[in-house]
Amino acid sequence: MAEIIDGKKISQDIKDEVKEKVAALREKGIETSLAVILVGNDPASTVYVGNKKKACEYTGIRSLSYELPEDTTEESLLQLIDKLNADDTVNGILVQLPLPKHIDESKVIRRISPDKDVDGFHPESVGRLSIGEKGFVSCTPAGIIELLKRSNTELSGAEAVVIGRSNIVGKPMAILLLRENATVTVCHSKTRDLREVCKRADVLVVAIGQPEFIDNTYIKEGATVIDVGIHRKGDGKKLCGDVDYEKAFPVAGKITPVPGGVGPMTIAMLMYNCYQAALMQNDLV
Ligand code: GUN
Repeated sequence: MAEIIDGKKISQDIKDEVKEKVAALREKGIETSLAVILVGNDPASTVYVGNKKKACEYTGIRSLSYELPEDTTEESLLQLIDKLNADDTVNGILVQLPLPKHIDESKVIRRISPDKDVDGFHPESVGRLSIGEKGFVSCTPAGIIELLKRSNTELSGAEAVVIGRSNIVGKPMAILLLRENATVTVCHSKTRDLREVCKRADVLVVAIGQPEFIDNTYIKEGATVIDVGIHRKGDGKKLCGDVDYEKAFPVAGKITPVPGGVGPMTIAMLMYNCYQAALMQNDLV
């Protein structure tokens, strides 16, 4: 029987910690701020951006909202980023993805100053992470490390297996686990015997993108299982992850539920990154 890793509670703790730290900075006359840019009106993106603004309000971070029409040109978006890069009252810049098809996402990500890249998507942020320099870490994998640490999961010397090699989750996750001295294996669609590799894991991070794909037969007795997936089950309202929770639960040592596991951590870590940005820009780290 697994212990449930409560992402809702842990993310709340982190937001409360950030709130205190942001208030302490304000005492010193330093405001923390985040510029959030949304282009178009994709319904999911609109909900995500709304949640990010709410979290800013909760933690005392000033949020500046830029809601631009779908037909915004790439050039005018880049100009807005230039303006925010140059604005000393803005600590973090977030451009909600995906962008409309006529805008080159990679060009936009590269235009954000690495010092304000609170999403951690800029190639310089990724580079800094991979050589162990200070910089912003992509929020979902950073949140997973917090879940593991705060649930007292031993990482040093552990066999960690990550399923998925995306730039936003799988790859940074592997680097972060390596930084914690785990022995890391990254699996993907060409991995020959996925079940065999997963069975070795003390810590299994699943970002495979397929509903309830990983069941008990992939899990070593007592392993910690982190489920990054989120899917709507059938045509109903019920959500599920990449892990078959009912089957995994009796074998795993610890497990994250969906919803209420990894999901809430992403925004909490975004708030933490904004606080870090304010510290860095005021030469306090
Ligand atoms: N779209 C979905 N997730 C994210 C995220 O973490 N950051 C940004 N900028 N866009 C997203």
